[in-house]
Amino acid sequence: MLILNKTAGVFFKPSKRKICEFLRNFNYHPGKLFLHKVVLGIETSCDDTAAAVVDETGDVLGEAIHSQTQVHLKTGGIIPPVAQQLHREHIARIVQEALSASQVSPSELSAVATTVKPGLALSLGVGLSFSLQLVAQLRKPFIPIHHMEAHALTVRLTSAVDFPFLALLISGGHCLLALARGVSDFLLLGQSLDIAPGDMLDKVARRLSLMNHPECSAMSGGEALEHLAKQGNKLSFDLKPPMQRAKNCDFSFSGLQHVVDKLVMQKEKEEGREQGQLLSAAADIAAAVQHTVACHLARRTHRAILFCRQRDLLPQKDAVVVASGGVASNLYIRKALGVVMNATECTLLCPPPSLCTDNGIMIAWNGIERLRAGLGVLHETEGIRYEPKCPLGVDISRDVAEAAIKIPRLKMEI
Ligand code: KG4
Ligand code: ZN
Repeated sequence: MLILNKTAGVFFKPSKRKICEFLRNFNYHPGKLFLHKVVLGIETSCDDTAAAVVDETGDVLGEAIHSQTQVHLKTGGIIPPVAQQLHREHIARIVQEALSASQVSPSELSAVATTVKPGLALSLGVGLSFSLQLVAQLRKPFIPIHHMEAHALTVRLTSAVDFPFLALLISGGHCLLALARGVSDFLLLGQSLDIAPGDMLDKVARRLSLMNHPECSAMSGGEALEHLAKQGNKLSFDLKPPMQRAKNCDFSFSGLQHVVDKLVMQKEKEEGREQGQLLSAAADIAAAVQHTVACHLARRTHRAILFCRQRDLLPQKDAVVVASGGVASNLYIRKALGVVMNATECTLLCPPPSLCTDNGIMIAWNGIERLRAGLGVLHETEGIRYEPKCPLGVDISRDVAEAAIKIPRLKMEI
């Protein structure tokens, strides 16, 4: 076992024998000619072990995923050593399934692309160690991937989108607005000052004990709230969107989470329920929280569009805004963003929900993008480390705050 420092390093090292065993499961076709570049993508930055094989035309040749959501729902959140253990148990099988489904033998791959930043240290370490062993055995190039870059570029797999575009990336671990100017050229306009919206929605869902709800027991927190919100009245509670006075593109969700915590406690008292029992007000709370989160995301995005236009960073006409990451699969949030798109005459593009949440396809596609652009394709992997924290692009959030752009009030009729 190779152990390096805890903030950046490689933790788990599968034995050479294991990788050889893994490779023996494939038939080699050394003479077969592959017309397109083909990349194997591997994702283990959080709680999904995912792999996919994608070619340069955007064809997904094979994919596989093992989600840990059910395990973490039971323990009330992600416990990093548990996530690490599950990645270790499943990574070889998932990569093998993706390769087998693609009918591409490892020798035919153009490169292996793997998430190395940002994410949970113990989880990133599993994917990186596995990948480094694999590329060493196969003598293939390695492409280290930034998880948020991959979320931002996924849309270029599903739609013909040119740079520049504005990206709103919202997930369980991240929340940011960035201008994408090229494959690895981003300007960071703002990000969450505390927790991510998915994290907050997961906490609220747990506080409401939605895993005890017959319709929501198998859903992630965000999905459960979206489902329940359809039966609720968003106007039942007057929750204020965070940071209304701060004229920047940063986000905050922990204050709102505490307000909702208090509200749930008060409702438990009023309804005479114990913690863990479902509240009759749960659907109304879900609807109010979802609406408030949607308004916060929409307002920050609105300011980002106006800022980019003011600085000529986005075209004045027909600019594209991309929303991606697990929380972007929420249809209510997409509708709220749609109100901003109408007001600013922008087009909103979102990958399909299965590509918004973590997956191997987005990593393989990011590998293809980098391969085509000749960016960060490594033939020597000595010294490669994972990085649990790593901002996306050049941070210009101060400029955004200094511009202090006032946004017109929009009627959020959704
Ligand atoms: O992108 P992702 O799979 O993993 C991270 O990189 O975090 O996002 C997972 C997050 C979870 O917090 C989950 O509750 C949230 O995305 N999520 C949703 C929905 N589906 C997943 N949030 C709101 N509405 C949804 N439909
Ligand atoms: Zn993600």
